[in-house]
Amino acid sequence: MPDISPRDAVRRLWPELDWITDQKLREQTTNAWVRAFELSPLEPDDLNRIPFTLLIPNCPVTFMEHKRCVVHIARKAAESMHEFMGKSLPIHMDTVIAGAILADVGKLLEYENVDGKTRQSERGEFLRHPFTGVALAMECGVPDRVCHIIAAHAAEGDLVKRSTEAYIVHHADFMSFLPFKNLKK
Ligand SMILES: [Fe+2]
Repeated sequence: MPDISPRDAVRRLWPELDWITDQKLREQTTNAWVRAFELSPLEPDDLNRIPFTLLIPNCPVTFMEHKRCVVHIARKAAESMHEFMGKSLPIHMDTVIAGAILADVGKLLEYENVDGKTRQSERGEFLRHPFTGVALAMECGVPDRVCHIIAAHAAEGDLVKRSTEAYIVHHADFMSFLPFKNLKK
């Protein structure tokens, strides 16, 4: 996408940003992605080509296909939980959506493309994406309740007392990741 601004490129990648009702949070979430591209060796278009994970050989799903799927699952799950259990289990929908959109923003600092192949960068070996994702989000003023989701969405978060919103994003992420590990070749 050579002719559009980084900001427009992010908004094109992520139509789901419009689901965040709080304008300030929507801006902060957008800005974290813009900042990630400023620091990343990857370009916005790369995310429609590269695999969403390096943990599955020949992964057939792209980064954006997976990430957007997780956001959609998380929203639908949160809606159902609110419908049936909302009286006893408060769920903050903007937090779920912003957290799901930002969960993997740190992968822009974890991955690099070399000779047409995506691999983990040296920085990524030291700092997996939950850590760099929190750094990017905090730099852009993203509130702690959303940074918590980034921090706790992956295996590192198993040591953390997850919020309700973090549980939702964690499970949305893993239910659309783990089945690929068992896919018959
Ligand atoms: Fe992740």
